[in-house]
Amino acid sequence: MRNYSQFWWKGLLAIAAYGLLLVSLPAQGEDAGNLYNTPYDIGAGERYFERQCSRCHGFDAKGDDEIGAPDLTGRLARASSNVGIYNIIREGIPGTAMLAVGANLPEAQVWQLVAYIDSLSTDPANIDLPGSASAGNSLFTGKGDCDSCHMVNGQGGRQGPDLSRVGERRDPEQLLSDLLTPHQEVAPRWWTMRVTSSDGTHREGLRMNEDSFGLRIMDADAKLWAFSKSQIQSLERVEESTMPSYSQTLNDSEIDDLVAYLFSLRKEN
Ligand code: HEC
Ligand code: HEC
Repeated sequence: MRNYSQFWWKGLLAIAAYGLLLVSLPAQGEDAGNLYNTPYDIGAGERYFERQCSRCHGFDAKGDDEIGAPDLTGRLARASSNVGIYNIIREGIPGTAMLAVGANLPEAQVWQLVAYIDSLSTDPANIDLPGSASAGNSLFTGKGDCDSCHMVNGQGGRQGPDLSRVGERRDPEQLLSDLLTPHQEVAPRWWTMRVTSSDGTHREGLRMNEDSFGLRIMDADAKLWAFSKSQIQSLERVEESTMPSYSQTLNDSEIDDLVAYLFSLRKEN
């Protein structure tokens, strides 16, 4: 199976770093993580970067070959952690054009710069995916028929999760497996219930809610059905996704396009 590791390892690192940060927040000392990494701090870091760093590294931080200032939006050659970036900014890189910032620059401002540089590697605009998001958008509502089950920005069905911001919670690797192997780890909300009532009628639908007295399901036409437990003759719970795998019905480049589209779905859009 294909994977996107070469495209999004930065995201993985960021997620790993974030995990570390959460765990280590209460600790003191230089490994305590960056406390200055709110959107406000990132914005402040960006403004400082534009004033003091962009003449060498460029306004987009993509670097300048003539000066020899590296692209800061990808994996950094000299720093593998926020502390590493911090040290470079504080101490500079001896023997190169990369000078240390003034010793009187407040700690908070250095950490805001670190937060800004760190944010560059998780910015979707800097993660180079092979597919085309606009082609993926057409597939989503066209040939793929994804919108019969999924809603994006208020348009679409309710037979699957709302995907309006799926790019914030799923990385490209996970989105790929969502499309190829959707049956893994299905949340109870998306289980299918097959109900036979005491009068012999069968109904099938998504499990809306269930308690010791009864059950509500939503069928494929988005109709709700309620049953009290005493009414139910038999009940089958299918803990698999109703979403089909697309590994056979869509080709590799169509899958890539859909992943690029899904990954682009965020709050800002
Ligand atoms: C005068 C040009 C210049 C300015 C201004 C400058 N840099 Fe640099 N920077 C460089 C050069 C050249 C290197 C590469 C040095 C080397 O590794 O040979 C570098 C390297 C770096 C690195 C390490 C990159 C890596 O791949 O490991 C970071 C991080 C960095 N700079 C951040 C900053 C920040 C933040 C600022 C603003 C406070 C800044 N730089 C200002 C020239 C500059
Ligand atoms: C028959 C209804 C149905 C269709 C058609 C369908 N899905 Fe799904 N999809 C679901 C359900 C139900 C889930 C939740 C269960 C699961 O994770 O498999 C889901 C989950 C997902 C997820 C994971 C969402 C999350 O928040 O974790 C993604 C991404 C997704 N679908 C994308 C697509 C795309 C793209 C298409 C079209 C190529 C598609 N789906 C077609 C029903 C559907």
